[in-house]
Amino acid sequence: MKMDRRHYCRLFLCDGKMEKYEPILKRLEKTAREYTNIAPENGQFLSILIRAIQAQHVLEVGTSNGYSAIWIASALKQAGGQLITLESDRKRAAEAQAHLNEAGLANIVEIRVGNAIEEIPRCEPTFDLVFLDAKKNEYLRYLELVLPKIRSGGIIVADDTVTMRNEMLDYVDFVFNTPLLNSVDIPLDDGIILSYKAE
Ligand SMILES: C[S@@+](CC[C@H](N)C(=O)[O-])C[C@H]1O[C@@H](n2cnc3c(N)ncnc32)[C@H](O)[C@@H]1O
Repeated sequence: MKMDRRHYCRLFLCDGKMEKYEPILKRLEKTAREYTNIAPENGQFLSILIRAIQAQHVLEVGTSNGYSAIWIASALKQAGGQLITLESDRKRAAEAQAHLNEAGLANIVEIRVGNAIEEIPRCEPTFDLVFLDAKKNEYLRYLELVLPKIRSGGIIVADDTVTMRNEMLDYVDFVFNTPLLNSVDIPLDDGIILSYKAE
């Protein structure tokens, strides 16, 4: 049975720590199509992963209005982690900043406005987890740039891998064939490929 979005949210929110983010997440879900946000269950998936691997440094490629950044940053908050998120559209980046301020998560997130292809090489930290959610036909380029900056045992999550697979065939081919990664398709909402950087 397919669980509906509200049920996934309730599962996540019922742990008692996340209730304060519920109003803003619910409000942003009303415009999810316009801002091409991830589904709540994918937010929950990222949140569980971040907590499970005790991530401290996360990179997101494709911020939009900050919906997924709220899921990621709220998971990082407990462990004192940090998110860098990249967005080429200045107006969307400003909206994301306003939403992160409202959520009380602005001190955990740095929004960098610019093209990810130029911004990724400028990123300093070694990342525990990277979330790819910008231009689908650029996923492989983002990965090539960021892979040396991901720690061994780190995770890459790529979104829209079922619904927009035809636009990222080079990425799919790479992640399933390189000895550097172990990858698996997860048909969660629009699809995710989860990749593990070999030790
Ligand atoms: C699918 S939306 C991101 C949704 C967001 N992750 C969420 O779930 O809330 C993709 C975003 O990536 C941005 N984008 C596209 N190409 C980009 C690039 N090369 N560098 C940075 N941002 C880019 C778009 O402007 C758009 O806002």
